Amino acid sequence: MDGGALFFKSRGSSATQLQRTEIMAESIIKSMEKMGYAAAGIAKQDMAAGFEFLLSIQKESSVQLVSANILKKDSGAAYFTSHIIHNAGSLKVAIIGITDHSIKLRASEEKDFIITPWHEVLGNDLKDVEPSADLIILLSSYPYKTNEKIAQQFSNIDIIVQSGHSKRGLIPKKINNTLITQVEGQGKYLGHMSLSIHPDSKWGDSYQGQVQQVQNELDRIDWQLNRLKKRIPEAQQKQNHQFKKLHTIKSELETKIATLNRALINNIDIPNTYSNKFIPLKTSTPEDKSVKAIVEKAKRRANRISQERITKEKKSNEIKEAQIQPYLNGLIGWKRCRQCHPEQTAFWQTTGHARAWSTLIRKKQQFNPDCIGCHVTLSSYKATYAEKEELLSQLPSVLKGVGCEACHGPGLIHADSKGEKPSKAVSKVTCLQCHTAKHDGDFDFNRLVEKITCPSIGATKSQ
Ligand code: HEC
Ligand code: HEC
Ligand code: HEC
Ligand code: HEC
Repeated sequence: MDGGALFFKSRGSSATQLQRTEIMAESIIKSMEKMGYAAAGIAKQDMAAGFEFLLSIQKESSVQLVSANILKKDSGAAYFTSHIIHNAGSLKVAIIGITDHSIKLRASEEKDFIITPWHEVLGNDLKDVEPSADLIILLSSYPYKTNEKIAQQFSNIDIIVQSGHSKRGLIPKKINNTLITQVEGQGKYLGHMSLSIHPDSKWGDSYQGQVQQVQNELDRIDWQLNRLKKRIPEAQQKQNHQFKKLHTIKSELETKIATLNRALINNIDIPNTYSNKFIPLKTSTPEDKSVKAIVEKAKRRANRISQERITKEKKSNEIKEAQIQPYLNGLIGWKRCRQCHPEQTAFWQTTGHARAWSTLIRKKQQFNPDCIGCHVTLSSYKATYAEKEELLSQLPSVLKGVGCEACHGPGLIHADSKGEKPSKAVSKVTCLQCHTAKHDGDFDFNRLVEKITCPSIGATKSQ
């Protein structure tokens, strides 16, 4: 399952952007089915394309979108399914969804839908599922503080899986009798919880764990007793106050261990226990072929949509040179640099940076504004460029690929002045604009900078 906030980063600003994110959302829910997800919550971010869209992609996949408090205004019925009962082996797991009601609906949605606060609906849903469920999980897009309140009010919820809020990588926290947890954002981790649960039990330390704790205490007392024995003559030991005190504690602890062991053997009131880990999904994690095929297909469709739009607009001559100009900001392209720096240019041409644009062509992603920014030469990369999609794909060919000026800064003044230094010193910060955690998690500046450092001026001549 997933807590929610799965489908969109934000509401797209242009029609093509929205179309593209819709294609991605569709591929996400299809991939999740392949990965064996049973249900996903619905958060604010998921509403970017509207409720009807969500319902339509729901039909493409067996993954159930759940929300108990997005209601149809006329009937008061849940628009999505409020919960599912998932059979996991012999266990029945109830998965309920709850959507942060503080979000604002669009005017067009306000007339058909309402999102009611959690306390108005959760009681009823829990009453519905309680008799048949062995485990109750709530997928919540409320912030942590609210989830704490939910846990305090409804102790029959076993686990709350949170989504979309800032408390990411939240190691399960026990509030009342509920664990609240959330994995890291952007699908970078998989949450894995092993549970050992017993009817009507509460979360607690396992008996083995408790025995271990008491045993540690006992070992400490034994150590103190031994030390006393060495110091006090045997005849006086029985009268010694400290000696007597330690003996009393020792026998109390021994009784405690015996009781715990008896409970363990006879299965009395065994606490529910869990262990949790967040598994990082690194680029080295092997790909699943069927999921990869879904994602690749969606990317190709998204690229085609941008391409069609750009071709149309080019014809209607909407994009003018003047519109691109501000983004070029003194950039002149690598061919001008080559005139005076042939050795450095020859070296650069052997690096991946020179091939960065053909990489996009090879992947059929050269029209995808989500990719272009880092595979071309701009004076600096800004995420907002992605919104200037029609401009980005119109860059002159000498700026396609990661050219000289991506590292050395715009070269116009330098090239004209024949002496003025290029505008930027190359540093780690330069690289991190593109070698981000998301696109190059293992980037190590000190090790890699050598690979791309141009030969010194005159290095070859002086030999
Ligand atoms: C008209 C010739 C000319 C052009 C065109 C030119 N440069 Fe230079 N460049 C020079 C000269 C001359 C130097 C100074 C060499 C020296 O200091 O010995 C220099 C120095 C440099 C240096 C070293 C600066 C330093 O810190 O010492 C870099 C980096 C550089 N150029 C990058 C570029 C880039 C990138 C371009 C294209 C955008 C470019 N140059 C275009 C002539 C040119
Ligand atoms: C404008 C974005 C951008 C900047 C700035 C940038 N890179 Fe890259 N880098 C890329 C892209 C994109 C690739 C992949 C190119 C390809 O193969 O398509 C890449 C590939 C590389 C590679 C592997 C290619 C090879 O030839 O071995 C190294 C190493 C590297 N970059 C180091 C650096 C370092 C060090 C810096 C900073 C001094 C830096 N990069 C700055 C975008 C950038
Ligand atoms: C934030 C900057 C950034 C964005 C955005 C970006 N890339 Fe890259 N890309 C890089 C960097 C840096 C590398 C080099 C590091 C590496 O290979 O992991 C790279 C490497 C690659 C490579 C491997 C090149 C090779 O042959 O080794 C491919 C393929 C690629 N990118 C495609 C894409 C596509 C497709 C998109 C859009 C969906 C995209 N990139 C968006 C920065 C970016
Ligand atoms: C990925 C980043 C990157 C790219 C792209 C790049 N360079 Fe460099 N270049 C460096 C680094 C790093 C140095 C080492 C000096 C420094 O740190 O400033 C350097 C040094 C230079 C120098 C000065 C050498 C000296 O004597 O100090 C020149 C000239 C130069 N580059 C020209 C170019 C030209 C021309 C291109 C494009 C054809 C280019 N560079 C592309 C990173 C880059």
